[in-house]
Amino acid sequence: MSKEDPYSDTQLTALGLERATLPGHVAIIMDGNGRWAQNRGLPRIEGHRRGVTSVRCIVEEASRLGLKQLTLYAFSSENWKRPPRELTLLMHLLRQYLVEERREIQRQGLRFRVIGTISGLDPMIQEEIKKTETMSAENDGMTLCLAVNYGARQEITEAVRRIVSGVLQGQLQPEAITEQTIADHLTTAGMPDPDLVIRTASEFRVSNFLLWQISYAELWVSEKYWPEFREEDFRTAMRDYRKRDRRFGGLNPGNPGTK
Ligand code: FPP
Repeated sequence: MSKEDPYSDTQLTALGLERATLPGHVAIIMDGNGRWAQNRGLPRIEGHRRGVTSVRCIVEEASRLGLKQLTLYAFSSENWKRPPRELTLLMHLLRQYLVEERREIQRQGLRFRVIGTISGLDPMIQEEIKKTETMSAENDGMTLCLAVNYGARQEITEAVRRIVSGVLQGQLQPEAITEQTIADHLTTAGMPDPDLVIRTASEFRVSNFLLWQISYAELWVSEKYWPEFREEDFRTAMRDYRKRDRRFGGLNPGNPGTK
């Protein structure tokens, strides 16, 4: 058995996990790259560089666990406020990841997707995104989704614009607009909602990430900075998720006092 084979039920049990209680979709706010570097007297970009190693480890672990989707917040629409040098290096890392990771994406059979305002990125990065998405479109493994130049408020605003335009053109009646209509106009159309949101570096914020989609997601915050977040930390999150009591606004029939 190679290191990357999916976990068997026996292996999952040994890890304190159970297939039926794993989340289908996990979304991660990868925070603390800068602080990790600064604490070591290194330039911030070293934190981002090391963060890419965490990305590789967690993608592979999520895929071995058999998750349906992993969404990573790689660059927010607010991140453009960072110093030009950090932006250049972040974009360079992103492009390098897209190019270098293609072989790995194919080997693991991942379906690669990007959400966010792709048109606002450097044309060379847009090209690499398209190439990786097209190449992996027929794969049947986990969906690896990167949120790049992504902002949830922008996404919702854009969806409203397109829905209103449909109404003005007579293609849609206002009273026919449902929650599904809105979901279908987001960049995540067709994707399952996240079941679990992980944020690293002890921050308790959602930072304009998938605001519509995480309405009922469980939140899990790690004290670790993203560059030090590894497979065992991810599995700890899965074990904690297993204990959560998700009620979606209703009552859990298994709980005492639910009658
Ligand atoms: C937050 O740390 C992290 C980011 C803004 C970028 C995340 C990017 C990576 C992990 C590397 C590139 C990703 C891919 C997929 C190639 P921060 O800089 O805000 O940390 P701080 O809050 O400690 O300053």
